[in-house]
Amino acid sequence: MLKKTIISTSFILASIVIASPVFSADVNNGKTLHQAKCYQCHAQKSGLGNGDIIYTRADRKVQDLARLKFMVSMCNTELRLDLFPEDEADLVAYLNQQFYKFK
Ligand code: HEC
Repeated sequence: MLKKTIISTSFILASIVIASPVFSADVNNGKTLHQAKCYQCHAQKSGLGNGDIIYTRADRKVQDLARLKFMVSMCNTELRLDLFPEDEADLVAYLNQQFYKFK
């Protein structure tokens, strides 16, 4: 009886984790990828020597989550950074948590 309860509870938890894009994305992977592939160019392009400012500048391009996904995908495809869709999702999660904070 107890064993059955434990099994069904973990099944429910697993389903929640898989169903939710926020929980399934790996923010730490996003952070690592961002440092490795994105930060440097953004620092140079903004001319400020800081690759984070592009996300928080007053006239930033991204105003909602859909646009954020689009821009991450744009930079990835345009620049041939060869990221997998999971990596893009991790980057979106990291950028949103750290800078944009969309609901
Ligand atoms: C070779 C240069 C370069 C690389 C590498 C690059 N980007 Fe960009 N990115 C740009 C430029 C330039 C802009 C500004 C575009 C504009 O203002 O129209 C930009 C803008 C963005 C924005 C929108 C910022 C805003 O205005 O709100 C996001 C999000 C973004 N990049 C994500 C990424 C991610 C994620 C990566 C790494 C996987 C990446 N970029 C790698 C050049 C680059």
